[in-house]
Amino acid sequence: MAQEYRQITISEPKPFVKWVGGKRQLMQELENNFPKQFGKYHEPFLGGGAVMFNLLSKKPKLSCNVSDFNSDLILAYVTIRDKLGKLIESLENHSKNYHNDSAEYYYYVRKQEPKQQIEKVSRLIFLNRTCFNGLYRVNKKGQFNVPLGRYTNPNIVNKENLMAVSKILQSEKIKISCRGFEAVLDDAKKGDLIYFDPPYQPISSTANFTSYTHRDFTEDDLERLVTVANNLNSKGCHVLLSNSNSKVVKDYFSEKHWKISSINANRAINSNSKKRTGHKEIIIKNY
Ligand SMILES: C[S@@+](CC[C@H](N)C(=O)[O-])C[C@H]1O[C@@H](n2cnc3c(N)ncnc32)[C@H](O)[C@@H]1O
Repeated sequence: MAQEYRQITISEPKPFVKWVGGKRQLMQELENNFPKQFGKYHEPFLGGGAVMFNLLSKKPKLSCNVSDFNSDLILAYVTIRDKLGKLIESLENHSKNYHNDSAEYYYYVRKQEPKQQIEKVSRLIFLNRTCFNGLYRVNKKGQFNVPLGRYTNPNIVNKENLMAVSKILQSEKIKISCRGFEAVLDDAKKGDLIYFDPPYQPISSTANFTSYTHRDFTEDDLERLVTVANNLNSKGCHVLLSNSNSKVVKDYFSEKHWKISSINANRAINSNSKKRTGHKEIIIKNY
């Protein structure tokens, strides 16, 4: 029985970083909204990849074309796929040093700006595992600025999951790239599914977390996203989008081919835990 369980966990890769806007809690709602059948899967705001990993655990042969604007994040996917052994060695080194003196080591690593691929990626994963709330957030200069988190024994080297992620990403059917979301328009074909999970539009002036990269996601970006989504609709693609329950977003998607529904969400981004529960988000689709 224990062995059976072990096999299941190995074969089901999960996000290797905690990512703001991660979709693990909304997965069931999203799954209920996927089309029954579709061609290729495109996800141009990949983040931690919760949706892609979930889909792949059910359809391991699915063709995926996924991307994100954050070059550090995409480098992490590619390194896990191609150089896992060296990455694990480097993470084990971080783990050993962290357990000697967590605060001193954390701030020492946060200050570093490694140029080598393995060191860059292991720093990203190490900081993500040990920082406050597992957030990735950078300031305007692109410097990671999250303080140390309060963990007694963070799992810095989650070998089993990293191996599962590496294995699945080696499939020739998965293409990962670092690029802006617009590029999906050239790749997607009739019948494909495109899932857009952009940084959410703020619904209040204090809820504007948009700094995944050195650039914010502005209303201009949203307007360009609507144009891309409308063009994909004209091409005959299945388009699915999630966002905050923002009037601005709903107004942009007011054309009649868009169906908007609201779903219950329980987000962990608000620093005040009492404000984390019971709010609505929206799902927009054209099918
Ligand atoms: C809400 S998160 C996606 C979360 C993801 N669904 C998950 O489960 O982890 C939004 C992502 O969009 C990326 N992003 C922001 N602006 C972008 C742009 N113009 N083009 C492509 N990606 C962008 C960010 O780097 C971030 O990873």
